[in-house]
Amino acid sequence: MTGGARSAPTHGGLRVRIFPSALSISRALAGEIARALDANPRLVLGLPTGRTPIPLYRELAALHRAGRIDLSQATTFNLDEFLGVSSDDPRSYRAFMRRHFFDHVNLAARRIHLLNGLAHDVARECERYERAIARAGGIDLQILGLGANGHVGFNEPGRALVARTHRTRLRPTTRRANAGLFGGRAGDVPREALSMGMATILRTRRIVLVATGASKAGCVRRMIEGPVTTRVPASFLQLHSNAEVWLDRGAAQGLRAEG
Ligand code: GLP
Repeated sequence: MTGGARSAPTHGGLRVRIFPSALSISRALAGEIARALDANPRLVLGLPTGRTPIPLYRELAALHRAGRIDLSQATTFNLDEFLGVSSDDPRSYRAFMRRHFFDHVNLAARRIHLLNGLAHDVARECERYERAIARAGGIDLQILGLGANGHVGFNEPGRALVARTHRTRLRPTTRRANAGLFGGRAGDVPREALSMGMATILRTRRIVLVATGASKAGCVRRMIEGPVTTRVPASFLQLHSNAEVWLDRGAAQGLRAEG
């Protein structure tokens, strides 16, 4: 097993790997992506934003500088984008991805996909995204972060989840968690966003969800050991046949086997 990771028993269908640190997760995951690209240069990746994947993007950029990965034939699809924020706006997720990843690797611009937060016809934009994913042959490897309230992408907890890419209303906790991009002002974070749906995510061939830090421990426990419930959208990953959860010790500390 790479990066000093070890497996923990689980009660849902999720395989769990626990690493000594966030850095060791990013190294191991960048290594897996490098191997996947060697096997298939036309790899289709699903990508998240947030603080969690930043070390992964840094690691992938370093591998690229060292000539060890070539993304020229790869395709990417991001999970979500704020509604009403233009792609040029430094607060958009597209700008985040440029800063942390796209500007540092050799992805072809035409194979980078994000939802357009300024689309006039939102329903059509969501449909376009679903079709683009299908045209690319589906997503081979979907990397996910975990919202502290259990969301994945912007699939927020609630009475129901939406299957396909859709427009969604952000919870106050989510707006607070994203305040960093908006000068620390949660009130300036858009109230709505576009997000891949839960079925869009569950249709991907392989999922690796990464969660780091003790603040995620409660949510990690509910995702892995709790029932499949729309109150914890990430718990739906238990239904996927090839989904793994990669944790550092902090995020794993609430798991029963870790007790
Ligand atoms: C945002 C994104 C999610 C991401 C989550 C976690 O809300 N829409 O896709 O997983 O943040 O962020 P962090 O990694 O900063 O905890």
